[in-house]
Amino acid sequence: MLSKELILKQINTEYCGKNVVYLDETDSTNEYAKKIAKESASGTLVVADCQKNGKGRLGRSWTSPAGTCIYMSLILKEKVEPVKCPMVTLIAAMSVFETIREELTDVKIKWPNDIVVGGKKITGILTEMKSDSRETEYMIPGIGINVNNDEFAPEITASATSMKREAGKHFDRSIVIGKVMKYFEKYYDEFLKKGDLSFMREIYNDNLVNRDNEVNIISGEKSYRAIALGIDDTGALLVKKQDTGEVMTVISGEVSVRGVYGYV
Ligand code: BTN
Repeated sequence: MLSKELILKQINTEYCGKNVVYLDETDSTNEYAKKIAKESASGTLVVADCQKNGKGRLGRSWTSPAGTCIYMSLILKEKVEPVKCPMVTLIAAMSVFETIREELTDVKIKWPNDIVVGGKKITGILTEMKSDSRETEYMIPGIGINVNNDEFAPEITASATSMKREAGKHFDRSIVIGKVMKYFEKYYDEFLKKGDLSFMREIYNDNLVNRDNEVNIISGEKSYRAIALGIDDTGALLVKKQDTGEVMTVISGEVSVRGVYGYV
C-alpha cells in the first residue's frame, strides 16, 4: 500500500518530497501538479496510486494500473533559464538510475530520460514547465517507475520490465520514492550551483546504453543513422554521422533515439 504517511516516513531530504500530496487516483500527476504549482512550495511531490490518463513523451499515453507502480511529479520553483529545463529531465533520470542500481544489475540510461534494465524500459520521465522568456515559473519532472508489475500489455511486453520482474521480489514503493528524492535533491542542488550538467556528465555517459553504438535519430518524418558519443555539459546528445563523420548535437524534445535493431 501507498499513503502520504508511509511516503513521508521515507523522505530524508531538505525539500524534495518534504511536502507530499497523495492521491488514490488522478488523471495524471503532471496535470495535478501543474494545477497546484502556483500555491505549492518548491519540492512538493504529487504521488498517485493510479492514473486514468497518464501521459508519456511525444503525445503517447503511459499505462498506469493501481497498486503496483510509482507515478509522481515534483514541483520545482527555482528560477532557471527556460533553455535549461531539459537538464532537469536528465537529473531525474540519474536519480532513478542511482536508485534502481542499488537493487538490480545491468541498469542503463537511454538518452534522454529512460532507464532500462537488461535492455527493457523500466522508467519513463516527462518534464513539463511554465516560463516567460527569461525564467521558469515552475518545472515539473513526472516520473513513472515500473515497480511490482507482473505483466504488461501485449504491445509493450517485449520492451518493458519492472523491478519485481528483474529481481523476483516485491519492492516497497515508499522506500523507492524516498531514495529517488534523496538522489534528485543531491543532483538538482549541484545543477543549481553549477548551471549545467558538467558534474554528472561522466557518470551519465559511462552508463549510457547505446554509447558508441549505431542509433537512429528520428525527428518527425526524418531520420538518420549515427554513432552515439555521449552527452555534453548541457545534456544534449553528441552523435557522429556515419556518412560524413560530422558531429551533430541532438537536443531532446521532439526527438527519439532508437537502436538500429530495436528499442535500444
Ligand atoms: C515516457 O517515457 O514516455 C514518459 C512517461 C512519463 C510517465 C510519468 S507517470 C507520472 C507522470 N504523470 C504523467 O502523466 N506522466 C508522468
